[in-house]
Amino acid sequence: NLREANRLAAKAHVAAKEAFFAGKSELEIHHAYLSAIDFRESQVPYNSIVALNSDSAILHYDVYDTVPPKQIRSFLIDAGARYRGYCSDITRSYAYEEGFYADLVEAMDKAQQELLSEIKPGVSYYDLHVSMHLKVAQILTDFEFIKGDEQSIYDKGYTSAFMPHGLGHFIGLQVHDVGGFLKDDKGNSYERSERHPFLRLLRDIEVGHVFTIEPGLYVVDQLLEEHKDSADINWEKVDELRPYGGVRIEDSIVVGADGNENLTRDAFKELGAE
Ligand code: GLY
Ligand code: MN
Ligand code: MN
Repeated sequence: NLREANRLAAKAHVAAKEAFFAGKSELEIHHAYLSAIDFRESQVPYNSIVALNSDSAILHYDVYDTVPPKQIRSFLIDAGARYRGYCSDITRSYAYEEGFYADLVEAMDKAQQELLSEIKPGVSYYDLHVSMHLKVAQILTDFEFIKGDEQSIYDKGYTSAFMPHGLGHFIGLQVHDVGGFLKDDKGNSYERSERHPFLRLLRDIEVGHVFTIEPGLYVVDQLLEEHKDSADINWEKVDELRPYGGVRIEDSIVVGADGNENLTRDAFKELGAE
């Protein structure tokens, strides 16, 4: 059922992508998504995020503009589908043209796939989240947003300003499925992490777990405000990215004893898409 939920969403994502490259508005893209799978709006598992340009930096953006921007730059879509009660939750980011934003999307995709390869039973999801922060730090230096080494960029809190949400969450009958804080079968639970309060999954990874992996990077001025006097940050680069908003790539993974299943990428592949 989770597989089928991913197939449905992947089909709709392909239609949305086509609508984006055809120059449609956020609302039109949202309609193309629903129409591709004959869904009414109330059937998707959460309000789809359909965001062009700087709107893509807004984490739960769902107030779709009815006219396309004059200059189309970027597209972030975070949208799922439901099948027999089970949810999918997929994010893709697209550049309208070649250039540094397209390179950034590619770098994030590569980082996401590296994280996928680190998923193994016994690994703590928290450690994977920190690994994601270090990869985001690497991207921030590679693209000259920040000076410094990865560890100090992480330690100074810069990656949290650019990447303010968790690596992911359990997914199943609910998009943010329950149990991410359970410590044992007696019902004891983990406290939310002070360093990473937005991370909803703190358990060690086990065979059979299904969760999302969704690294991202955004220009959110309210979060960067705290670092406004930082000489490590290249503000010209930040200004360059701001009109593109941000980037996120999100897949759902089933953990296996030896090797994992990527429900999302498999669904896109079946359609001959990415
Ligand atoms: N769409 C909500 C989430 O990715 O967690
Ligand atoms: Mn998610
Ligand atoms: Mn999502």
